Amino acid sequence: MSNKLIIDELSNIVRDGKKEVEKLLNKDQSIITESIIVPSKEEGGFFKGVVGDFQKKEVINRFIYGDNLNIMKELIKGESCPSLKGKIDLIYIDPPFLSKADYNTKISLPLKDKKVTIEKFAYSDIWKEGIVSYLKMLYPRLLLMKELLSDEGSIYVHLDWHIVHYVKILMDEIFGEDMFLNEIIWSYKSGGVSKKYFSRKHDTILLYSKTGKYIFNPQKEKSYNRGLKPYRFKGVEEFVDDIGWYTLVNMKDVWNIDMVGRTSKERVGYATQKPEKLLERIILSSTNENSIVADFFAGSGTTAAVAERLNRRWILSDMGLTSALTVQKRIIDIKGHQFLFQRLEGEELTSNGELKIKGIDKQNLKDKEELISIELEGYEIDIDNIPIEKKYKKLVEEVLEEDSLNLIDFISIDPDYNGEVFISRWQNFRENDIYKVEEFIELKLPKKQKRNIAVKVVDVFGYENKYIFEV
Ligand SMILES: C[S@@+](CC[C@H](N)C(=O)[O-])C[C@H]1O[C@@H](n2cnc3c(N)ncnc32)[C@H](O)[C@@H]1O
Repeated sequence: MSNKLIIDELSNIVRDGKKEVEKLLNKDQSIITESIIVPSKEEGGFFKGVVGDFQKKEVINRFIYGDNLNIMKELIKGESCPSLKGKIDLIYIDPPFLSKADYNTKISLPLKDKKVTIEKFAYSDIWKEGIVSYLKMLYPRLLLMKELLSDEGSIYVHLDWHIVHYVKILMDEIFGEDMFLNEIIWSYKSGGVSKKYFSRKHDTILLYSKTGKYIFNPQKEKSYNRGLKPYRFKGVEEFVDDIGWYTLVNMKDVWNIDMVGRTSKERVGYATQKPEKLLERIILSSTNENSIVADFFAGSGTTAAVAERLNRRWILSDMGLTSALTVQKRIIDIKGHQFLFQRLEGEELTSNGELKIKGIDKQNLKDKEELISIELEGYEIDIDNIPIEKKYKKLVEEVLEEDSLNLIDFISIDPDYNGEVFISRWQNFRENDIYKVEEFIELKLPKKQKRNIAVKVVDVFGYENKYIFEV
């Protein structure tokens, strides 16, 4: 499609997007709470504290699995969850960039004392009608984001050269040109150079506020003195480091931040993971403690990981199972606060996999406690129904034959399942270089005559199943 046609299309995109949002608001599609996750690593593996009542809005932090269009609609309407209309201080989004590529995540599996790697689909950034269909997707979502922002709120839209200039036009239409604050350039080093044009080594982040009275806490950066020598101006504080003398000035709009490298500690293996330092800057600048931060294209959950560290509340959504699993593990890993794992009605999470249990045992201990032991035996799954490329199926078959438990990525337990919401008080998962969940699980619990233990298992493909045992 030529550029002229795209310009002609812009007014249709705006008109149709507005109609779509109006219709959407009449649609019923609830948000369902699958589980409350209480990260339990620091509790010696089992969370003994109080679990918040999410019905009473005590737990705000949440990951919602599904298409963000319907999710945001529900968050505005507030029928199946507390309404967040006008309550969010910061929205950061890093949507697909119109890069015309599919993105995969790597899964390492142990096989014959070696490590083999297979790839699983994470998300697609290929658009049938190119720019027009991309903008048709984004416009109604941006409209809903504006509704969710508080009067002090701001939105950061992270894109690159592929599409940012068209999105700027849509943002001006929605938020108003006078609410445009910055075009932030995130400059980085990465592999690959071009001989035909300048190497493309930056992303662009558009920053808009909802009103004129937005939160903004200026951040400081180093500004090196000319000649790197001290100026000794009256009243100006100067500092020195290995490079030379500098002063601290309010941060400019070009940010040099390293990408998440192969050996970087924060790397979780998600193809388009953004650096925590980038999100830290954004969150510190545009929120206060306890503000609600949202990211509706969550990916690996960088926004939530940083929000946790900075004491902000967070809401994430993503329509990929890879993202759902990665975010849960990431928040548990950093010992975050309790959070909800929710899904949009109709978005199924279950698979054809089946966990085999060798045995469950219960032993009385002193001090009104009992010990529950669970021994895992194996995992069965129909390989034909696994969402991976044919070329990897043989490898998965071999892993299944050698030790099928290696296909389990995440296991969590609710020791007192009430039949409705799964409260995950114990978790164990594969980590870097530890390819297997614990096969033999022991839980020390307050003594009870009878209890329903629910075990939830998520396989490396992102599908989950729940098993309930009465002991
Ligand atoms: C570029 S990635 C985000 C990466 C993230 N910022 C990070 O640091 O890991 C974009 C994400 O948007 C998700 N996505 C794309 N379209 C979506 C939609 N309509 N609803 C929800 N999530 C969507 C994809 O599944 C993908 O995980």
